[in-house]
Amino acid sequence: MSTAEFESVDVLEAEMTTPAPSMVTELEARNVSVWFGPRKVLEGVNMSFPKHSVTALIGPSGCGKSTFIRTLNRLHELIPGAALAGEILYEGKDIYSRDVDPVHIRLAIGMVFQKPNPFPSMTIRGNVLSGLKLSGMKRSNHDDIVEETLTAAGLWTEVKDRLDRAGGELSGGQQQRLVIARALAVQPHVLLMDEPCSALDPASTLKIEETIRQLSKEVTIVIVTHNMQQAVRVADNTAFFLAAENEPGRVIEQGSTTEIFGNPKDERTLDYVNGRFG
Ligand SMILES: Nc1ncnc2c1ncn2[C@@H]1O[C@H](COP(=O)(O)OP(=O)(O)O)[C@@H](O)[C@H]1O
Ligand SMILES: [Mg+2]
Repeated sequence: MSTAEFESVDVLEAEMTTPAPSMVTELEARNVSVWFGPRKVLEGVNMSFPKHSVTALIGPSGCGKSTFIRTLNRLHELIPGAALAGEILYEGKDIYSRDVDPVHIRLAIGMVFQKPNPFPSMTIRGNVLSGLKLSGMKRSNHDDIVEETLTAAGLWTEVKDRLDRAGGELSGGQQQRLVIARALAVQPHVLLMDEPCSALDPASTLKIEETIRQLSKEVTIVIVTHNMQQAVRVADNTAFFLAAENEPGRVIEQGSTTEIFGNPKDERTLDYVNGRFG
């Protein structure tokens, strides 16, 4: 089977197994610009994330994808010298409003990073429950939460007999799924993932992609990826970022993944998705 055929089968499978995202907007960026000190790195980003959709953010290194995804749950403001203009509306309200608690926002809008970051000497069970404990969130039935979230993260059958072993004993791919389970334990509505598979082997990557597709039935997902096939496999929508030399990053084009990969309007998008640069 040729590569082209292989890819089109993937698209077909994605369409058959991914439920249609709802039309309700859960999260929306309005005219978001970002500076680090005097340097503007992101210009006027507008993007809306329908409830229970998966959105892929693609583009070459340094174009502002990580910066943008961090603005979506107020991790951005923790960086010294970071500034922001524009609005991020979550369920219709600007998350940067004075009366909004950033801790509440980061619980509702969770984040998974490139490098899996479990607490290595803490047990698997302890890791899953750690976000709950740190946030002071009260949920009873800890055994059920551990089983439910590890199942949702696609890790349960691999670890159910060793929940009291250290998180650091797991493989990289398992650790990333453990971190996803930890993020899910606080019942987020949105999950942000910044290149969650770039440190993983292909088999673990496929497991995480399967997990993303399952999770998107209940959670809105935004994922940064450099893997074009991954965007095609998991994302309903795709946004292409690009920064010209000495210019801030911008969204060049966004739309349904099928359109962005199959029939992009901008030549730069076409070149990028076909691997001609970046
Ligand atoms: N903490 C920071 N301080 C200063 N500049 C930063 C910081 N983080 C990122 N940048 C700059 O912002 C731009 C966008 O970076 P980033 O969002 O990491 O891009 P991407 O994730 O697309 O590779 C880059 O020019 C980068 O050097
Ligand atoms: Mg990045």
